[in-house]
Amino acid sequence: MKAVFIFSVLLFVFHNSQSLLPPRFQWKILDYAWEGRAREAALTSGAYIPENNMPTGITRWKNKLFITVPRWKKGVPSSLNYIYINGSQTQPLNPYPSWNEAFVSDKSCCISSNSTVVSTFRVHVDKCDRLWVVDNGVADMTNELKQIAAPAIVVFDLNSNRLIHRYVLQDDVLRDSSVLTSIVVDTIGKGCDNTYAYIPDMGSNALIVYSLGANAAWRVENHYFHFDPHSGVYDVGGVQFHWSDGISSVVLVPSKRSSSYRDLYFHPTSSTKQFRMPTSLLRDDRFATENTFNGVQVLGDRGPKSQATACDYDHSHNVIFYTQLSRNGVSCWNLDREMTRENVPLVISDCLILEFPSDIKVDKESNLWVLSNRQSRFLYGSMDFNQVNFRVLTAPVGAVIKGTTCERLSTVERALSFIMRPKSKFT
Ligand SMILES: *[C@@H]1O[C@H](CO)[C@@H](O)[C@H](O)[C@H]1NC(C)=O
Ligand SMILES: *[C@@H]1O[C@H](CO)[C@@H](O)[C@H](O)[C@H]1NC(C)=O
Repeated sequence: MKAVFIFSVLLFVFHNSQSLLPPRFQWKILDYAWEGRAREAALTSGAYIPENNMPTGITRWKNKLFITVPRWKKGVPSSLNYIYINGSQTQPLNPYPSWNEAFVSDKSCCISSNSTVVSTFRVHVDKCDRLWVVDNGVADMTNELKQIAAPAIVVFDLNSNRLIHRYVLQDDVLRDSSVLTSIVVDTIGKGCDNTYAYIPDMGSNALIVYSLGANAAWRVENHYFHFDPHSGVYDVGGVQFHWSDGISSVVLVPSKRSSSYRDLYFHPTSSTKQFRMPTSLLRDDRFATENTFNGVQVLGDRGPKSQATACDYDHSHNVIFYTQLSRNGVSCWNLDREMTRENVPLVISDCLILEFPSDIKVDKESNLWVLSNRQSRFLYGSMDFNQVNFRVLTAPVGAVIKGTTCERLSTVERALSFIMRPKSKFT
């Protein structure tokens, strides 16, 4: 009986994993699409130190897959890059928007162009075909930390590959410990001007809100943005470490209570809980901290070892996906269901292929994209560059969640879940 159970569990996990395998892209070591003899020159000068390059973020737009490489160590030639979706599995990275603009060396005093991104972890594509980047502006982050440019929001038009806007974040929204890990964007109404960007500051437990219309940014602090001491211990890829990381990833979900604003779903990295707050509280910089505190709802707990570095939301299935670093995999949650451990199942887990999943995205066609990067070895252990270290997996969301509790609820289930739903303090 027990054997049958274990077998069927394995079969079940295997069945869902199938759709994401084999990896669409994978690398032993990252290389770039150099021009002429630039590679040799960069190796000689130290502008390119191959083993110090590790990807942390991905985002798909049409035939491009953006891949970000933060300047964690020395020798990262370009932080913002892309590859071609229809290209080879091990293709080199192309700096974005061009080599001239994207190239930065650790010796640089400053940026050469307003299109230059010094160091970014994760990027976002909005519905107006704009690429939103939050640049931390630093080089050699873990060693001789050097601020090359002030932290900034950098926005590109993907159709023309031109810079639309660079907004330099002012000192009043930042702290010495600030680490800006990701960015999500909310465009309200039909046009593209009424836009807000939300940037989690993982290092100083805050959310930076930027209004494109007002061209202004403000800082929101909240106790819920802090880490949970019960969830600060990790063991990934044979490396144990402690992280006290606060809020690191957020997603925007249409609100059930109003059509005039979306809800922001957020979680700190070192936490297993899920929180929600209405963006109506964040969009107005005059709101007092007490209001934003009272506006947060605790939705539930994903269960032990479910810390997530990143998450994304799929509108067509009403599902949030989470990277699961302590479980070498990906989990999902259907927002029509109560958040409990049972309702946030692992859809894939593989200690080789998904060692340290770092980013997860859903594209416009409801395909799931996952990046794994062996980050704990890169930061605290040692990498073996004879092995594949970095992988990008993709599959349609429908195939990934098939047969799990993340699948769409039946009409009866939906009706029941609506009736049984605990009354929120907003309704
Ligand atoms: C990829 O698609 C582009 C058109 O979008 C085409 O020009 C190119 O040749 C294709 N590359 C491969 C390797 O198929
Ligand atoms: C960036 O833009 C500002 C404002 O337009 C300009 O003053 C500055 O010189 C630009 N910086 C670079 C490096 O091009």
